[in-house]
Amino acid sequence: MTCTPAPQELSFQPVENGNPPHYFNFSTDGLFPITLPASKKKVLVVRDAKMVQLIMTDPRFSLAGLDPKKDTVTGTGYQSPNGMLRLDAPRIRHIRRRITPLFSERTIAPWRSEVAQIANSLLAELRNGRQPADLNKQYFEPLVLRAVALSAGITLDESHALYGFSNRVLVRVESSEDEARISTAWRELYDYIGDLIKGKSTSPNNGLFSTIIAELKKANLSDAEIVAASGTILAGFYTPYGILSVSAVELLQRPGIIEACREDPILWGQVGDELMRYKAHFNFFLPRVATEDVILGNEEIHAGQVLLPSLHAAATDPNLFPAPNVFSARRAQPRCSIVFGAGPHFCPGAALSRQWLQVSLERLFTTVPGLRLAGSHHDLEWQAGSISMPQRVLVRWNKKLA
Ligand code: HEM
Repeated sequence: MTCTPAPQELSFQPVENGNPPHYFNFSTDGLFPITLPASKKKVLVVRDAKMVQLIMTDPRFSLAGLDPKKDTVTGTGYQSPNGMLRLDAPRIRHIRRRITPLFSERTIAPWRSEVAQIANSLLAELRNGRQPADLNKQYFEPLVLRAVALSAGITLDESHALYGFSNRVLVRVESSEDEARISTAWRELYDYIGDLIKGKSTSPNNGLFSTIIAELKKANLSDAEIVAASGTILAGFYTPYGILSVSAVELLQRPGIIEACREDPILWGQVGDELMRYKAHFNFFLPRVATEDVILGNEEIHAGQVLLPSLHAAATDPNLFPAPNVFSARRAQPRCSIVFGAGPHFCPGAALSRQWLQVSLERLFTTVPGLRLAGSHHDLEWQAGSISMPQRVLVRWNKKLA
């Protein structure tokens, strides 16, 4: 008989080195009860890959049925009820049918060389600048801002504005007072997007933003629904920033892997996937509520129970990834798609994120000689969040050889 642990309050603070609290780790001990910091409601953390996959794909687990007042864990829960992450099938499938092809590997492939050029110009500036430099502020953040402008077909100023909104809506929820602030930020984002849409309707371009609007119009969405769906997508565009930063910190501690990638550049793709599996992923994602009684493993879940899938547990489940806590660039199954979710809400930005990760790391580690952390990795300050990222990544390099 397994004994149920006492509930702990969900913490967004990493325990050490950016690692999540223990209840997000893989476990065969069943579901772990936690209380949400804002509402004090008890929810259950799901801690193995099979169950995480199940609750993200099975229609008996709903996003639309969540109560924003009680069940919200991150600001995503306060988006409009028409926002993509608050819809269930069949509505979300209707929208995704139009959106998904726009983000396919084939569609995004032509941007790879332009992202590399963005990386090259940022790295040229970095190499000519002072040491130590902060990779977060001088490389990854501006790279993501420019890569979004490029792929979405918006100006850099517009990308900056949207990034500001993204940082206000995709945040952790820690108190009941957060709701008003985050809901206001969503409304302001929707107003901003409404104006952008008007501009793009008169002068559309080949970027994702114009094509998304055109496709959603073809799908007969109302103006408000188009704004809400675009809001989810545009806010999501900036999430690779933390993934890139965490990945660089991991690689800086593995010179052998960097050397292997330099010798065999095809490895960059596999290394990017392994970095996301191993560390550079959101520790958890949106909760789901059971719409009927369901047996999950050995446990009976009653209708109305809220479950929080631990993506971290799924990505480090030894049944899927042998020796999950070993970083291996040559895994038999290198790609860990669960870090991008599963089922009808599977992240449309997965291929784009992988592209930015591979290109940014490859450019960084092949064009900056002798790149190293300015201090010890033990001294990095990790921020709290659904992915914990270092506040700053200070680096030095060999100036003379540059
Ligand atoms: C170009 C960058 C990105 C964009 C445009 C983007 C956009 C989105 C959107 C619009 C959704 C909701 C889809 C739906 O409801 O059908 C979503 C879901 C998701 N995204 Fe992304 N995203 C991006 C990057 C990332 C990154 C870097 C990660 C983490 C590695 C990530 C993880 C997820 C996950 C786990 C979900 C599923 C949520 C759930 O089902 O509960 N995304 N993304």
